Amino acid sequence: MTEELEEFAPPEVHHYNEIGEVPWDIQNYWKQRHRIFTKYEEGVWLTDDAWFGVTPESIANKIAEHISASAPKDKVVLIDAFAGAGGNSIAFAKSGRWKRVYAIEKNPAVLACAKHNAKIYGVESKITWFEGDCFEILKTHLKDLGAYSVVFASPPWGGPGYRSDEIFNLHTMEPYSLDHLHKEYSAIGEVGG
Ligand SMILES: C[S@@+](CC[C@H](N)C(=O)[O-])C[C@H]1O[C@@H](n2cnc3c(N)ncnc32)[C@H](O)[C@@H]1O
Repeated sequence: MTEELEEFAPPEVHHYNEIGEVPWDIQNYWKQRHRIFTKYEEGVWLTDDAWFGVTPESIANKIAEHISASAPKDKVVLIDAFAGAGGNSIAFAKSGRWKRVYAIEKNPAVLACAKHNAKIYGVESKITWFEGDCFEILKTHLKDLGAYSVVFASPPWGGPGYRSDEIFNLHTMEPYSLDHLHKEYSAIGEVGG
């Protein structure tokens, strides 16, 4: 554990250096740590739960590339509604396509990870952070940005237990179904597919 980590990290936050430190259920994820964050060794922070949801860097970059290319030119703001440990927010900020990236995360320890990880990638000043419920924040603080924004959502999806489902159904996804997300996001503007 680095000095900085001891000083500032909330107790749920870790940077594991050795497999012996890693809880058994995230060891497979930790083995892929350099695929998840290529700068992992620079001190990337994650909570134990965040390992299950973080978007690996190459995939986050690809998503950022696709959205950059397909979003209408008048959309200049990217809102990452479920920022997690920052995998997607960092990629959006790095892409240089957006005047501003807004990142929302309701778990304060996970948000601390996202901010810290964005610093490692040199993009923390390109992102405005919100701690709280994205549905509330979209309707209050970010409402006026609706017309200029693309809202990206990487919601919780139930964890690795999904593997036993024959079909991963976006309409019954818990805790927020696709229909719920669609309805909520429609409140701030037109919703695309
Ligand atoms: C799948 S993870 C996102 C991972 C993220 N894309 C990344 O690469 O790190 C989903 C995140 O949404 C957060 N979350 C769940 N409900 C939320 C809500 N209503 N508002 C904001 N964040 C929420 C969870 O705490 C979790 O960190």
